[in-house]
Amino acid sequence: APDIDVKAVKADLDQLQSIADANGGNRAHGKPGHKASIDFLKGKLDQAGFKTQVQEFDNNGATGYNLVADWPGGDESKTVMAGAHVDSVDTGPGINDNGSGSAGILEVALAVSKSGLKPAKHLRFAWFGDEEDGMVGSQSYVKKIGADTKKIDAYLNFDMIGSPNPGYFVYDDDARLEKVFKDWFAAKNIATEKETEGDGRSDHASFKDAGVAVGGLFSGADYKKTEEQAKNWGGEAGKAFDACYHQSCDTSKNIDEKALDTNTDAIAAAIWQLSS
Ligand code: PHE
Ligand code: CA
Ligand code: ZN
Ligand code: ZN
Ligand code: ZN
Repeated sequence: APDIDVKAVKADLDQLQSIADANGGNRAHGKPGHKASIDFLKGKLDQAGFKTQVQEFDNNGATGYNLVADWPGGDESKTVMAGAHVDSVDTGPGINDNGSGSAGILEVALAVSKSGLKPAKHLRFAWFGDEEDGMVGSQSYVKKIGADTKKIDAYLNFDMIGSPNPGYFVYDDDARLEKVFKDWFAAKNIATEKETEGDGRSDHASFKDAGVAVGGLFSGADYKKTEEQAKNWGGEAGKAFDACYHQSCDTSKNIDEKALDTNTDAIAAAIWQLSS
């Protein structure tokens, strides 16, 4: 798999920050910054040769949007899928939560295009709306595809992958998918822990509930880093992984570049390996 240039990921985060700035400081469900974020991502994916769809749903009296991007080719009965929620909370621009996952999978998708990848399995990327009101966008997507959930070979979720005081957590929901990430980090001598803070709390839950094998990465939200974790990962013990979680200070400055870089490279490695 290629090395993903973290500068490109950060440039995308700057774009999402600008979108929030131009739209009342957030990118939340029912607010103009949410749709503007979808349009920004769609433009890049269309240009790269993805087949994109914007799917609408309704919640709390407002329209929400999911963006689905298919890379043409590969066995669709064994689809490998990566997803991230693109909405923020009302109180801030949501750059770590979840510009980070949104930009991370965008750059991996663009790398698929750039390298002209011809995977054996079909590849699909998705950006879900309204995760923050209870995974509404991903639930709407899973409901819409119905029995086609059986064709999803793996769903990988990325929600908060650039936390400023980062941890390296691997979802433990499926042993095969957990191992793909664990082995990649181990080869780089980066310690990982099983993800437990987020169980049932992001879009992977919608897929898991429908019987799909799920995996993913997470760098921590409002839990505090322990002494032991600070020894393994650096950063500050006794402080939250993301002290700006769900706050107005979750801006483009609220990102650890090394965590963002490492996690995006890990996503690329997993996508290349799982789709081959
Ligand atoms: N889903 C949570 C949110 O968006 C964040 C989160 C992700 C928490 C993963 C734990 C694990 O607010
Ligand atoms: Ca990189
Ligand atoms: Zn959130
Ligand atoms: Zn989130
Ligand atoms: Zn878990």
